[in-house]
This record gives sequence, C-alpha cells and structure tokens, in this order.
Amino acid sequence: MSHDSTRIVVFDTTLRDGEQAPGFSMDVPSKLSMARALDALGVDIIEAGFPIASPADAEATRQVALEVRRPVIAALARCRPKDIEEAARALEPAERKRIHTFLATSDLHLSAKLRITREQCLEAIVDNVSRARNFTDDVEFSAEDATRSDRDFLCRVVEAAIKNGATTINLPDTVGYGVPDETRAFFADIIGRVPNSDKAIFSTHCHDDLGLAVANSLAAIDGGVRQVECTINGIGERAGNASLEEIVMALRVRQDRLPYDTAINTPLLFETSQLLSKLTSEPVQSNKAIVGRNAFAHEAGIHQDGMLKDSRTYEIMRPADVGQPSNQLVLGRHSGRHAVGQRAEHLGLTLTQDELAQVYHAVVTMGEHRKSIGDNDIRRIVERVRSGQTAEVAG
Ligand code: KIV
Ligand code: ZN
Repeated sequence: MSHDSTRIVVFDTTLRDGEQAPGFSMDVPSKLSMARALDALGVDIIEAGFPIASPADAEATRQVALEVRRPVIAALARCRPKDIEEAARALEPAERKRIHTFLATSDLHLSAKLRITREQCLEAIVDNVSRARNFTDDVEFSAEDATRSDRDFLCRVVEAAIKNGATTINLPDTVGYGVPDETRAFFADIIGRVPNSDKAIFSTHCHDDLGLAVANSLAAIDGGVRQVECTINGIGERAGNASLEEIVMALRVRQDRLPYDTAINTPLLFETSQLLSKLTSEPVQSNKAIVGRNAFAHEAGIHQDGMLKDSRTYEIMRPADVGQPSNQLVLGRHSGRHAVGQRAEHLGLTLTQDELAQVYHAVVTMGEHRKSIGDNDIRRIVERVRSGQTAEVAG
C-alpha cells in the first residue's frame, strides 16, 4: 500500500471508543440509527463494538453488520482467541468486515497491567493476528499505548504484525500524551524503519487528555499515516477521541497546508452531531468547533458589521459547508446598529435613522438582562418606538 496517496481513510469509533465513555452508552436501536447516519456521512469504516465485552455489544455489532452495507464494519478484540472468535461471529453478516485486534506494547502496560514479558506480548500478537486472518483479509492491529512504548520493540511488533497478516497498523496515543511535532516524527520514524511498512496502511488514534488529539492526528498524517480514527463530537474515553468533524474540516479548509481529502459529505456533519447528542442526551458544548451552537454565531457589533459586508471577514468556512443554519447574527448587549437594522429589515420593518437609533438603544438595554434577543422582541420594540412609547421593553 502506498503512503503517497492523498486519500485519508476515516475510521469512525463513535460506537465503540465513544460509546464506552461515561454517559454515552447507546442501546441497539440507537447504535443502528447512528450507524445509518455515519454511512450517509460517508465514513469509510464504522467500528461497531467490542463483541466480547457484553452480549449487547455483540448484538449491536451484528445488527450494524446486517443492515449497514457500504462501509467496512469493524469489531474490536483483544489478542485472545475467544475475543477474535466472538468478533468474527458478530461480523458474520457483514458485506465488508474488519477484525481490529489490540494489545498493549509499553513496558508500563506489560508489567503493571498485563504482567507479561515483551516476548509473550509479541507471541500473542503473532498468534492472534494470524487467527484473525482466518476470518477476514482485513485485519487491523493496534499497539495500545504505542506512543509510550520502547521504539525498537514497537518496530519489532509492527513488522511481525504485518508479516502475519495485519493490513492496517494503528499506533494509538492511548493516554493523550503526545505533542504534534513528536507525533509526526514518531510515525515518520516507524514507517521509515520497519522493512515491510509499505505492506500496510498506518493509522492514528489520538485521545484528547491535553486537548491535542486533532492536532496530533493532523501531524500523524504529515508523518505518513493514511487512516484517522475519530468520533463524532470527539466523544470517547476520559477527555475523548479526536473529533471527526474537526479533522475533516481542517483538511478541507487548509488544503494549502494539508493537501489530503476524505469522502465525508460535510453538509451532514451538523445533523450527525445533533443526532448523537439526541440519542445520548448529552448536549454539544456550545463553543465546540464546527458543530457547536456558537460555531457560526456572531454577537460583537464589529464582527456583525464585518459579516454583513463580507462573511469572509469573520468566517473561514460557510455554515452550509457543515450543515449549520446560516445567518446567525445574535442580537444582544454586544450587537451593533448594522445587525439590528438588518434584522428589522429581514422582519419587513424598514426603520428610519431615528427609529434605528431608538431600537438599537432598546436592544442593548434589553441585552443587559437577557442572553439573546429574538425576532418577537424586535417586533415589540419597533411597535413601541413607532407608537411613541418608551422603547424599553421589560427583559
Ligand atoms: O486508545 C486506545 O488505545 C484504543 C485501542 C483499543 C485502539 O482505544
Ligand atoms: Zn482509544
């Protein structure tokens, strides 16, 4: 497989890493509607679950495999025969399936958690990657805690996993410890050192403990990876995973620095994010990049004035590019005259200069007590101004 291609494979793990985070668990019907939405969004791979973890996980994986036919459906498995068999069973109905098997490779995980030696670790990887290949030609191996693993040992692991049939090698930053320049160099070094690295696609899977998951994922692409593992709204263990919508839009908006593409249908990003929020009853942070309620909202008068003259002054992408509602000039205490007049005009109320001055004053005063001011407030204020009453309307 060539590392020169500019196509980035999007591996969505909302239904596995995302779903295993506190507060985000989904029942089978919810997982199915999310999987359908991810299919429509255009993700390449849906990681549907970790079948050995629970019968519900196995059932959800099976249902997704049965109903969602275009993307590859992946199931997670530790490097253990039972896990691999359970994953294979759940994936049986899939049109295209991937077994994703993992084992930690850092000395810390090997000694403190697994209590095995490096040689035992290597042996389990070799055995179980080849076992997984009995069920499908599409096998991904992940070296958990890769970024804190001994580099020479990690290179041995990667080489052995590829030799025994892994077609994707994922090197996760499991604890969100990496920083971008280090992440780029990490992948470039391993891809350069492992003799059979051209036989696999390299993948990144970053956690957001330091808020660097997206930056690290982009750096990993620069270092040679061609698959990114990510989730809608960045949900996932602890601080979450790299956010799908942020990676995809960074690649799209900054083609000059990041000349790669994905198959994501970006106008569906907002509704997919909203669907996840609805299914899990977890709100999206209002200032969340790309899909937050405020991501395209402007309240400051100077910004509103700029936006009304040319939206490129304060927006680097159009709301429609990600499916957000357009024209979000929020009226409040920071608004400017230009936006107030434009909103009134939009409501069919053309104001004289004098009326505008009074309406603007009333909006700013009302904004002292209110978070935002709606169309009905504007109508009431204009009515009062025109009837000669004091413009202030109780907040
Ligand atoms: O964070 C991690 O290391 C994982 C692996 C199981 C891929 O989620
Ligand atoms: Zn993870």
